[in-house]
Amino acid sequence: MLEKKVLVVDDDSLMKDFLKEALGRSDYSVDLASTGEEALEKIKDKDYDVILSDIRMPSMGGMELLEATKEYLPDAEVIMMTAYGTVENAVEAMKLGAFDYVMKPFSADAIEMKLKRAFEQMRLKKENKSLHQALENTYSFGNIVGKSPQMQKIFESVKAVADSKATVLITGESGTGKELIATAIHYNSSRKDGPFVKVNCAALPEGLVETQLFGHERGAFTGAIRKSRGRFELADGGTLLLDEVSEISPGLQAKLLRVLQEREFERLGSEETIQVDVRIISTSNQNLKERMEKGKFREDLFYRLNVIPIHIAPLRERKEDIPVLVEHFLNKYNLENRRSIEGISQKVYEMFMEYHWPGNVRELENCIERAVVTSKGKVLTLRDLPKEIAFGKADFASETIGVGCSIHEAEKKLILKTLELQGGNRTKAAEILEISTRTLRNKLQEYGLKEAGDDQ
Ligand SMILES: Nc1ncnc2c1ncn2[C@@H]1O[C@H](COP(=O)(O)OP(=O)(O)OP(=O)(O)O)[C@@H](O)[C@H]1O
Ligand SMILES: [Mg+2]
Repeated sequence: MLEKKVLVVDDDSLMKDFLKEALGRSDYSVDLASTGEEALEKIKDKDYDVILSDIRMPSMGGMELLEATKEYLPDAEVIMMTAYGTVENAVEAMKLGAFDYVMKPFSADAIEMKLKRAFEQMRLKKENKSLHQALENTYSFGNIVGKSPQMQKIFESVKAVADSKATVLITGESGTGKELIATAIHYNSSRKDGPFVKVNCAALPEGLVETQLFGHERGAFTGAIRKSRGRFELADGGTLLLDEVSEISPGLQAKLLRVLQEREFERLGSEETIQVDVRIISTSNQNLKERMEKGKFREDLFYRLNVIPIHIAPLRERKEDIPVLVEHFLNKYNLENRRSIEGISQKVYEMFMEYHWPGNVRELENCIERAVVTSKGKVLTLRDLPKEIAFGKADFASETIGVGCSIHEAEKKLILKTLELQGGNRTKAAEILEISTRTLRNKLQEYGLKEAGDDQ
């Protein structure tokens, strides 16, 4: 931990002096406040680690300050100082999230012990957080799977560009792995120990994207109750991922262009110019070049972002990746769910290779995860798949029922194809068609297919 920032809040000036002196001797940086209100102002401006506050103070008391601290500085720990008669309040404060309390009068050693424990607690919390994140995200390059020439080429590009500072633009349909590739570039670069910061440009209204990117000063706009650092600042020394960059407004495009050119910007409501050392990767599932040609995206910005383009083809155009992806996801979800599914049936394999995968790798991953969790057997069968994949619904509809075909004809085709895909299993076919087996039998009779098979 860098500087250990402590705020002491007490209306008793002797107490403040004593603490400033005692804690100043250790490596704490100590600020003082005489009232709850004054403390609150300080909290809004500085990221304290520990607040050491008296419980009983004129006007805004320690309890109120505790609540405000939880709001503005959720990661800070609060230690309450109580005098005789307010111990009950201290216990109450702990229930509300205070870390500890100390009874007045106390020695310098006693308070130092408490502070030490508070900082230890914070360190553990932080460690836990990053451990959790590391487990959640499989960053290693080895976790991107792909056998197709298209993916092999991407692997080469990732290796080649990782260590440069060059700006990368990753394009591809939703679910093709843009974020995964961006993550791999960061973690294979010399910036890997620096921050990897993401901004989703599509998910936020214009004003918010701007403060997210550049930060703001306190009071820059209504609701800006405390100073905030933007993602550009947070990413200093690391990588900034601009997700869905095609979505940003013309005004913001101009500002972004400046940062890309000069690597400097100002926080909203501030004159001070901030310089950063950030590598930028952006993604888009829109064709940015097309948007540029239509005048929706600035040309100069496009060329700044598109220094190194990486395009990820849709899964349906690189079907050789499907088997390796299936194996990869089976391993992953077997492990996660303590299952031991050995593979997929021949029929499932065929369906996977035939399906058009509008949701790309994400859809395949979700499909396998769900099947691993719900399957009863050792091998995944058509039963374990969502309907639209198991019966190639979309392909079927577009390929075999053309406009100009009568309802009666369409119905017949639908029924026969479904039955065929079900290997003649009428119960299953009826279920998919959402009709009763009796209706199905009647329809088949109508088509002269009465004797066609056993009802399994
Ligand atoms: N080649 C791959 N190997 C292993 N997993 C992959 C691969 N491609 C994608 N995935 C997985 O598929 C899921 C979707 O990938 P990701 O979020 O990177 O897609 P995206 O292109 O950013 O999608 P969107 O445009 O919707 O944001 C993730 O869980 C990712 O790990
Ligand atoms: Mg994404």
